[in-house]
Amino acid sequence: MGKNVAVVGSGAREHALAEALLASGKETRVTVWPGNDGMEGVVRGGALPEDPALAAKTLSDAETDLVVIGPEKPLMEGLSDALRTRGIPVVGPSAGAARIEGSKSFAKELMQRVGIPTAEWSKVAGRSEAEALRKRWGLPLVFKADGLAQGKGVAVVTTQEEWEAALSRYFERREVPGGDVVLLERGIEGPEVSFIVATDGKRFVPFPTARDFKRIRDGDQGPNTGGMGALSPVPGWGPKDQERACEIIERCLWGLSKGGTPFSGFLYAGLMMTADGPSVLEFNARMGDPEAQLLFETLGDRALALMEEVAAGSLGTGWVLEATPRVGVVLAAEGYPEKPVSGDPLEGLPPSGERLSDGAFYMAGVTREGGVLRASGGRVLTAVGRGETLASAREAAYRLMGRIRLRGGQFRTDIALREAKKG
Ligand code: GLY
Repeated sequence: MGKNVAVVGSGAREHALAEALLASGKETRVTVWPGNDGMEGVVRGGALPEDPALAAKTLSDAETDLVVIGPEKPLMEGLSDALRTRGIPVVGPSAGAARIEGSKSFAKELMQRVGIPTAEWSKVAGRSEAEALRKRWGLPLVFKADGLAQGKGVAVVTTQEEWEAALSRYFERREVPGGDVVLLERGIEGPEVSFIVATDGKRFVPFPTARDFKRIRDGDQGPNTGGMGALSPVPGWGPKDQERACEIIERCLWGLSKGGTPFSGFLYAGLMMTADGPSVLEFNARMGDPEAQLLFETLGDRALALMEEVAAGSLGTGWVLEATPRVGVVLAAEGYPEKPVSGDPLEGLPPSGERLSDGAFYMAGVTREGGVLRASGGRVLTAVGRGETLASAREAAYRLMGRIRLRGGQFRTDIALREAKKG
């Protein structure tokens, strides 16, 4: 008897997850709640009620055997807890454990307690406390909103002008989402790595390393976005790095468990590789986006088995996820991220059901109107290319992107450009 699996979310990450689960066997039924109109061949549930208890009831009424939650919001609102109360297996942490992402100060305090390397930091109540820390640490400094901020909570400050602008935004105009409490951190430098594991709270399976590209324009210019591209694996990552990153995950899981909020689901450590080794910039309580569009593919036909073991708390010891080169390039609507334009037709996608030999499209901000697929604002899709090397994976991703037409559509042309020369 096949399993009835629910995926919660509507972006390209959830599309990739649904496809990975479908690859686990013909008898697996996957429903995405609510999904998006670009998810061809995937069953769509409706929008789930906001209330976690009602959402859990909806999934229970749909005779769901397993739920995998994509985005952070339902995790923080307690959807995993409500599902567990009903006895429905779920991949996703409790609301208590999801605070590792939802509260920067909770994460920083935990890191301090369990000895995870991270930049020096302090909560700051206003301008004068911030000025005092600046005297002590100098620039660069990083302002962070304590709460969830949809990618808008962090400001890296390197100049006097940026400093004044940040003080005004965070303390005078108070216009930063999640910024009721503000943290100031010492700036650190180095390349970033996304180190993501699937964990049942006791054991964990690391995915291959990845790197995402957050700024809208080439050369890491312009405002931060939800992510404009990613690559995997990160060239130059060695066994020592892996060992240190695994130790960070072990300490984090131990600290969460000891604090009474054991973590199960996907745990994401955003690392900065400093001269002294990895330092944690942030933890996320979920799979990364756009990293997921690359990493779920590494599961082959084993996605359902992995998710079931995570949900049951019985993760086996034999899991190894092979790193094969992949590059993802995101197409965003005109005006993104400030004022995305909706409604333009999206053309050039392969016909429904056609499998590509060297990559895939994962759909996000699209709607179907009058039989035509149109951009509905924000990030529209991720084109993922695969290859023997990062360079050939990159070529494949850009070849796929070259087929697509969207008026005013934006994508970066330098995703994985530097890394492809090394890996
Ligand atoms: N790629 C960064 C994130 O998912 O938060």
